[in-house]
Amino acid sequence: MKLYILLIFTTIIVIIKSSTSSSSSSSNEPISYNGWELVFEDEFEGNTLNINNWNPIFQSYDYNAELEIYLPENIVVDNGYLNIMSKKEQYQSHNYTSGKLTSSQRFNTTFGRIEVSAKLPIGKGYWPAIWMMPETDACWPLAGEIDIMESIGIDDLIYGTFHFSEKCGVNGQEGGNVTVPTFNQDFNLYSVIWDENQIIWMVNNVQYFQIKNSDIFPIPSTIPFYIILNTAVGGDWGGYPDEQTVFPQNFTIDYVRAYKQESNI
Ligand SMILES: *[C@@H]1O[C@H](CO)[C@@H](O)[C@H](O)[C@H]1NC(C)=O
Ligand SMILES: *[C@@H]1O[C@H](CO)[C@@H](O)[C@H](O)[C@H]1NC(C)=O
Ligand SMILES: *[C@@H]1O[C@H](CO)[C@@H](O)[C@H](O)[C@H]1NC(C)=O
Ligand SMILES: *[C@@H]1O[C@H](CO)[C@@H](O)[C@H](O)[C@H]1NC(C)=O
Repeated sequence: MKLYILLIFTTIIVIIKSSTSSSSSSSNEPISYNGWELVFEDEFEGNTLNINNWNPIFQSYDYNAELEIYLPENIVVDNGYLNIMSKKEQYQSHNYTSGKLTSSQRFNTTFGRIEVSAKLPIGKGYWPAIWMMPETDACWPLAGEIDIMESIGIDDLIYGTFHFSEKCGVNGQEGGNVTVPTFNQDFNLYSVIWDENQIIWMVNNVQYFQIKNSDIFPIPSTIPFYIILNTAVGGDWGGYPDEQTVFPQNFTIDYVRAYKQESNI
């Protein structure tokens, strides 16, 4: 009798497990959200980066006392994924190479729901980011900066931040964080919902932070923003790679999708 009950119980668990794993597994079908229309997607199918969507960046100057040089060849689309590779190798005066791509002049949006499914590198000195910058020459951060996801590799904290100030070159920021224990093992969905009243940050569609429109932090509402994906190596926030930091590693992206509220189209 006991064994029989145990058997039924195990069967139920197996059924529950298989039904949740099939619904949460990566799919090529964009998630449909009520009231939102898909306006941009890159599923990274095939084996080449779609340059109608992205600009691979060559950049040898550093911000934030970072160590990397960004090379287009470190951006590889392979088997349905975008891999941004970070390597410990000498290139010009740099000891690390990494990758950065932007959607500037390819895809930009004012307002929307922007989501990226990604698996992150782990270790001190890794600084992967999913962020958005305004399509303007205005001095940073006068027109704002939306950081959808940042990690500094040393723990399972994920950060969402909005930067703004009225003074050129002077940082102002508001941000939140959340633990994502599987950040380097699984694909998690990092996203924001941005409208005229607020910006909401989510992981796997669960909100962890929000800013409201205010005089101090005005929600950007006129200039379109483009998407940036990159991994910095080192820098004055998370610190520098140490003996434990494993190279090479990839920042792997399954897809990037953007939606607009139907009432905003
Ligand atoms: C690169 O590594 C060498 C040897 O460890 C070091 O002397 C040099 O300062 C490093 N360069 C940079 C730009 O960090
Ligand atoms: C936004 O991107 C489009 C291409 O999709 C481009 O034509 C336009 O100039 C960009 N907007 C700004 C303000 O740069
Ligand atoms: C994470 O957010 C909490 C508030 O939710 C804050 O108290 C804490 O300082 C933040 N942690 C870091 C490391 O920024
Ligand atoms: C990183 O991605 C590249 C390109 O897809 C792949 O060849 C390589 O094996 C990956 N490296 C790691 C450490 O997973």
